[in-house]
Amino acid sequence: MESPPEIKVPEAENPSGASSNFFYDFLTSPVELLLTVVIGVLVYKLLKSRFSRVSVEAPAPELPKLRKDMAVAELRQYDGTQPDGRVLVAVNGWIFDVTRGRRFYGPGGPYAAFGGKDASRGLATFSVTSSDKEYDDLSDLNSMEMESVKEWEAQFREKYDLVGKLLKPGEEPTNYSDEEPEDTDTSAANTTDKKED
Ligand code: HEM
Repeated sequence: MESPPEIKVPEAENPSGASSNFFYDFLTSPVELLLTVVIGVLVYKLLKSRFSRVSVEAPAPELPKLRKDMAVAELRQYDGTQPDGRVLVAVNGWIFDVTRGRRFYGPGGPYAAFGGKDASRGLATFSVTSSDKEYDDLSDLNSMEMESVKEWEAQFREKYDLVGKLLKPGEEPTNYSDEEPEDTDTSAANTTDKKED
């Protein structure tokens, strides 16, 4: 059987004079040019989405420091849905500003049920739920659960700014207006103390 005739590409059509025609063909073929453009656009989109994700995760500007005792009803406002996005959580009778942990306690976060609430019982019982009780005195928790509440309190003290006490019904709030900023957790040194009574 006769073999098909060999097709030879004339050397003169390749101005680079390279022995391979790969780059020359690549740049002149419309299909490959189109592919290059498509890949370029995809890479650009991928990089753009990565960068925009970084900016979403960028830390929110620090809010003025809040120093105030609150009752359960007032605490409820601070679930991160207010325009300033502040989130407070109470643990073992103390209120902490957890705004820097918004991704946990803010709207849509895994622990959003604790935002603006007393989280003590939920933390002690491994349940991400919050009660709508006016005030939870935790008196029915067993000693292991109370131990757990205390450990969580210690963790919150280390990580977040203390705002004040969670007031029992009828309890009067402390006046913090004379307090030096150093008396509180000053991890955010350049914030101002919001004096509210
Ligand atoms: C399958 C179950 C769970 C998994 C896999 C899980 C996972 C995690 C992880 C990975 C973190 C650390 C996130 C970080 O620092 O970036 C975290 C933090 C935390 N978890 Fe869980 N968790 C679970 C259940 C629970 C439960 C049941 C509770 C309470 C009732 C809880 C309360 C918390 C709290 C309060 C934090 C600390 C957030 C902060 O730093 O302020 N978790 N969890």
